[in-house]
Amino acid sequence: MDFFPIPSPQKIADFGLEEFLKIIDRNSKPYRELMAFYKCACMEVETKFRVLDEQLSLEKEHNPIESIKTRIKSPESIAYKMRSHGLKPDIKVLEENIFDIAGVRVICSFPEDIYFLEDCLLKQDDIKLIERKDYIKEPKESGYRSLHLIVEVPIFLKNEKRPMKVEVQLRTIAMDFWASLEHKMRYKKNINKEVLSELSGMLLYCADQSAALDLEMQQIRNLIEEN
Ligand code: GTP
Ligand code: MG
Repeated sequence: MDFFPIPSPQKIADFGLEEFLKIIDRNSKPYRELMAFYKCACMEVETKFRVLDEQLSLEKEHNPIESIKTRIKSPESIAYKMRSHGLKPDIKVLEENIFDIAGVRVICSFPEDIYFLEDCLLKQDDIKLIERKDYIKEPKESGYRSLHLIVEVPIFLKNEKRPMKVEVQLRTIAMDFWASLEHKMRYKKNINKEVLSELSGMLLYCADQSAALDLEMQQIRNLIEEN
């Protein structure tokens, strides 16, 4: 699974990414080690959400989480992003500047679950919030909705505690459905400009409709719970 656009081989050639790919070599020891740490950080964050889901399902008889997906950014995507951000191809520079190498996507049933889970996560004393982007309250022009958090979480190694950054994306099932459809359109080659603009308009309409539906479903859920 990849949350992010995978650059085409052509684009990699255009950007002359060979020197980046030497550093971001998936077989080199420092790179493998760093990626293993990010994998551990993903596991830490995923477990935190699973624990919350378990407890909330006991208390409220409602599982706020529908599913969780994790991924580590591919070497190609990392190299492409570093190059386009004008960063030096260096492992340390990579760790200090690219915050979405580890990604955890949490899919919820209802919008209120998203903010509730965010609150529960950020209250934990080993979690540090680095960045927050609320594309639910302020959707992107495309219609994209999700809550994005960059958090720092410690992983406990043999002789050290290492803080690692993880990008958390929280969204409803409807937001996720929309995002995957829009992603397909965005990275489809050979769509002519007119069709693209028509599709973008249709997708924006669907995003608004599906946000309205999310809120109505939320109201129904709340009424059921109150009664
Ligand atoms: P980068 O981190 O450099 O990509 O830029 P940014 O921090 O401004 O990105 P942002 O936090 O807005 O989005 C990061 C991720 O969110 C993307 O890689 C996608 O997974 C998702 N995303 C953001 N905007 C869209 C969108 O319009 N459509 C879809 N389908 N996904 C989006
Ligand atoms: Mg980002």
